[in-house]
Amino acid sequence: MSIFVNDEEKLFFIETNDISYVMCVNRLGILETLYFGKKVGRDDLRYICRRGCRGYSASMPDSKDRSEDANQFRAECSTSHYGDYRVPTVMATFEDGSRVVDLRYEGYEINATRPDGGMPTVRDGETLKITLVDKKSLLKVNLYYTVYQDLASVVRSLEIVNEGDETVMLDRAFSFCIDLPNQEYKYLSLNGAHMNERQICVNDVIPGVYTVESSRGTSSPQHNPFIAILGKNATETEGEAFGFNLIYSGSFQISVELNECNLVRVAGGVNSFDFCWELKSGASFVTPECAICYSSNGIGAMSRTFHDLYRDHLINPNFAKKPRPIVINNWEGTYFDFTEEKLCAMIESVKGKGIDTFVLDDGWFGHRDNDYSSLGDWFVYEKKLPNGLKPIAQCCRRNGLKFGLWFEPEMVNRDSVLFETHPEWTIQSPGRPICKGREQYVLDITREDVREYIKKVMTDIIRENDVEYVKWDMNRSLTECWSQTLPSRRQKEFMHRYCLGYYDLLRYFEKEFPNLIIEGCASGGGRFDAGQLAYTPQVWTSDNSDAYHRTKIQYGTSICYPLSAMSCHVSVSPNHQTGRITSFKSRCQIAYFGATGYEFDPTKITEEEMQEIVKRNEEYRRDEEIILTGDLYRINSPFDTNFFTQMVVSKDKSKAIAVSMQVLADANGPFFTARLQGLDADATYKIVESGETFKGSTLMGVGINLPFCSHGDFATAIWHFEKID
Ligand code: GLA
Repeated sequence: MSIFVNDEEKLFFIETNDISYVMCVNRLGILETLYFGKKVGRDDLRYICRRGCRGYSASMPDSKDRSEDANQFRAECSTSHYGDYRVPTVMATFEDGSRVVDLRYEGYEINATRPDGGMPTVRDGETLKITLVDKKSLLKVNLYYTVYQDLASVVRSLEIVNEGDETVMLDRAFSFCIDLPNQEYKYLSLNGAHMNERQICVNDVIPGVYTVESSRGTSSPQHNPFIAILGKNATETEGEAFGFNLIYSGSFQISVELNECNLVRVAGGVNSFDFCWELKSGASFVTPECAICYSSNGIGAMSRTFHDLYRDHLINPNFAKKPRPIVINNWEGTYFDFTEEKLCAMIESVKGKGIDTFVLDDGWFGHRDNDYSSLGDWFVYEKKLPNGLKPIAQCCRRNGLKFGLWFEPEMVNRDSVLFETHPEWTIQSPGRPICKGREQYVLDITREDVREYIKKVMTDIIRENDVEYVKWDMNRSLTECWSQTLPSRRQKEFMHRYCLGYYDLLRYFEKEFPNLIIEGCASGGGRFDAGQLAYTPQVWTSDNSDAYHRTKIQYGTSICYPLSAMSCHVSVSPNHQTGRITSFKSRCQIAYFGATGYEFDPTKITEEEMQEIVKRNEEYRRDEEIILTGDLYRINSPFDTNFFTQMVVSKDKSKAIAVSMQVLADANGPFFTARLQGLDADATYKIVESGETFKGSTLMGVGINLPFCSHGDFATAIWHFEKID
């Protein structure tokens, strides 16, 4: 039992083992946050809401004095046009054009069922629902809070119900809002670009608004739907961290605002840029969920809570913690240039080497020899593969591998049969030429007929060829958001409807093929978000497979997402994206910490490298349970130091694996140690590689020597630790 309500005083206490989330209904009936953070006593915390008469403000119409001004309230669901000038959570326009939404408390329910609105939702937990209502319009807002006794997290979402007679246009429908008293906070966001995703940015929270957002139709490589508020001196192991992550794959917005009352508001949800949703009488709108995780012990503990929450309650349990296929993907090995013979030679060359899935990437369909044609034509390119896919699928089976296939289901090229037949299925603005991205257009998957087409063609191919693994790609941002099927006043529903269309497709494949593993991909990590993870247990982390660059991308990604979510492949050197030369060992060791695989032509590697692959795959199979289900500790940040060091510890602390990379070698350089984390301090551990034994407290307090010498940039090392008593 995690939810306690003091009915008389209208106080709400959400408590798990480590956190308290306390709210009250104030004298005016506004729901306010009193506290969120490390667990505190179940006291009446209303004393914390100090307010004064502040000039140049507006008090509520029924306020008792000037201090009851909405700009000073700590709103759980902020609105606009009634005195709160900060970031609103809900905004609406009524039929007469008025826009005041005045949400007052109506009631609550414990053990409520949370609606999903066609989107991914966390499983299990205990849910509190608090209902607010705008008495004039009868617009109702249900706020949902789901908690788990053993997790320092609260998952929030809103349902907005129009119980009035008029049609309401929703101009904004965020998923959450919270006002925290500022403690010289900083914020951490994960920003980047294609091939440079989720780079860590930390800045001071200063007066004004900072927003991360995407208006691209996907969560995007540019900004991840994540933000953390950090205590002034927070590190990986110390200080406060409040993480906010939308469980959503579409255009989003998360804002951090510091106002003159020293309150830091964090609010976010579906991006309200180009958003407006028609709510007819009786209709409702459900927002995506937002996972909020807290730690008083640094950023690392916050990350581990996200990882546990997602592995235990979001990602499909058929895959979340189960062994993953070790994949070989032909993309960087062949690009578009392959034949049946070449593919079969690749497959045969990895027989019995511990690789168990071959994924045929782009170029097998339509008449696709480059990225100018054929997306949408999901039938075999007969000139390239005259015998179809079957011989390749059979070759996989003969050699003990599963067959995986690449699709980019949401796209179409102008040069395609699909575009010729159904130009109206392409997203476009009437009477205007269409923007291209990688020479391709986007299909209007808000339309059911388009989704039916995608479902049918993909189902046929998956069935006919016993495809057991799909790489689902998506290689451009959306433009000209408009659908033939929506009336003009509802065109701004498009972006969210696109995301719902995407989820509808994924849900269909999940149901139709329960054992089919889908790897998410959007030019690599352009849609690496928790919404997608619900259906695709692993995501191609980045098109950048360079071992050094991957340390940063994987480190940044792990701030919010578990290692099990990251597809990490060993590729060739010099690397195709950066031209960097790294050793085979380094590439293998960095790609080890995730859902591992390979991305090259295995017929072109040396015999020693092949032997190394065999050994590595055997080891991976022994280690993967720890990698996929263990606790991650980040030791050295490649953003701040010359090292990348991280370790993963089994839940029972009996085993751990650490990896380190020294970025640049220094002639006559200094010596470094790395202090481990997460071990059992009193236990004795053996370092498998050296046979040495040490107490956990020694490994954590004194550390291990980083073995790098002055020669060799990007050198790596791996250590295994086993508890021996
Ligand atoms: C994207 C993906 C790559 C590869 C290509 C194929 O860029 O991220 O891994 O599949 O498309 O065109």
